[in-house]
Amino acid sequence: IVGNNDFLTEDYPVMRRYLVVESDDDMDEIAGKIKGLDEEKIFKEYEKFRAKYSRKTKKIAEEFLGLNVENYREVEYDKLLTVLVPVYNTEKYFKEYKKSKKGIEIKKDILELDILNKKIDKGNFEHFMIKEIYDEPLVLKKILDTYTLDNKIIISENLINDLKESKSITILGCGTSYHAGLIGKYVIESLVKKRVNVYLASEFNNVTLLDENTTYLFLSQSGETIDLKLAYNLIKDKSRIYTFSNVLTSSLCMLSKESFDLCGDIEISVASTKAYVSEVTLLIMLAYKLSNLDKEFIDNIYICINSINKTLKNTSLIKDLAFKIKDYSSLFYLGKGIDHFINLESSLKLKEVSYIHSEALYSGELKHGSIALLSKDSFVIGLLSSLKNKSSFMNNIKEVDARESKYFLVSTSCNDSDFIFDCPNEYFSPICISSFYQLLSYYTALYKGLDIDKPRNLAKSCTVE
Ligand code: AGP
Repeated sequence: IVGNNDFLTEDYPVMRRYLVVESDDDMDEIAGKIKGLDEEKIFKEYEKFRAKYSRKTKKIAEEFLGLNVENYREVEYDKLLTVLVPVYNTEKYFKEYKKSKKGIEIKKDILELDILNKKIDKGNFEHFMIKEIYDEPLVLKKILDTYTLDNKIIISENLINDLKESKSITILGCGTSYHAGLIGKYVIESLVKKRVNVYLASEFNNVTLLDENTTYLFLSQSGETIDLKLAYNLIKDKSRIYTFSNVLTSSLCMLSKESFDLCGDIEISVASTKAYVSEVTLLIMLAYKLSNLDKEFIDNIYICINSINKTLKNTSLIKDLAFKIKDYSSLFYLGKGIDHFINLESSLKLKEVSYIHSEALYSGELKHGSIALLSKDSFVIGLLSSLKNKSSFMNNIKEVDARESKYFLVSTSCNDSDFIFDCPNEYFSPICISSFYQLLSYYTALYKGLDIDKPRNLAKSCTVE
């Protein structure tokens, strides 16, 4: 059971949640077991029982709800259940829960979650991160199953009408979700010709000029990110906020007008991979829907599925590249246009799991300063997915070469490339090429012997500022 409660206090004005796990053990059986035992043994039995429920509660919180248990405190109630409550307002939450058990109505809903039947394991993979990358073709298929029928994109009319009627679209996200938002901006603005503003949720309070007639799209794998909840509180007209998340029972989904499934199921690895692909895909889907290009979108997604499968089938080149870059202390990702946004995410992924510093740079901006960093000790990864950028991009690569820097080129068609990937058009390149970069980060971290699924200093869900 997950309870939502908006104890909006002045010091912490965000929705917080608590989680209750009730015992499904037969209490008579337990009583029978401890009958006749001495006090010490009863205590031991009880401790075993308690530990089991504590483990179960934390597992649900972490794996199914993406909550960071460090921000939650465990409280026990009548030996029948354990309750995880946010460290803020602990007493208040617990009292509310107890009241609700006595039949007193509390302000918000209590949701029963059917999650214990979900199977979450790594399968034959060594880590969740790689398993989740290999899930990407399945996620795309699930998106088609969920949002399309008879060659049509089927999604909420409210959302489509709001997007059509508002003067602009405003996308909010953090980290990887923010990067997905940048791709969304590029594709929606190019195809639909409507202004899209993308903001980092953690910087939203510093935005000085906000569009009034706008529809908000919140992107959040977990639906619990504190920066988004704080940004939500700053939005005056909340009637047009929509959330895209993997957790439809999350706080942000509850707060939104409507919410949409990312179709990625639960993502366990801290490094977000399949959720990124799914966020990007849904934003591209909106752009195609608003442009009445439903069938083209569907056909292109099938091409993407084949392209990703091709990358996943033969990873020897990626492994070789990972082995080469693992000893560098810094790396540069170069690109133009949409490729730069893809590079921002690839760079974040590398930093996050392999602890190698990296930067995504617009290739045309090199000469305006950053080229001073290049030398024979540098490594550059260039991405070119659109022919319109070929000549200027290749000129920039010549500059890299002239500094004797090592480089690796990824493209959709260029003969000089080290890796060529299939892609319907540049809008779909983030979907097709992400698995390449995600695997590159994965293998680099693997060769460095790092804790891939739980990188240092990071939590899956950022629930504190
Ligand atoms: C991605 O690999 C990171 N773990 C991080 O940037 C993440 O995307 C960010 O914290 C946002 O999380 P959310 O999508 O759950 O809101």
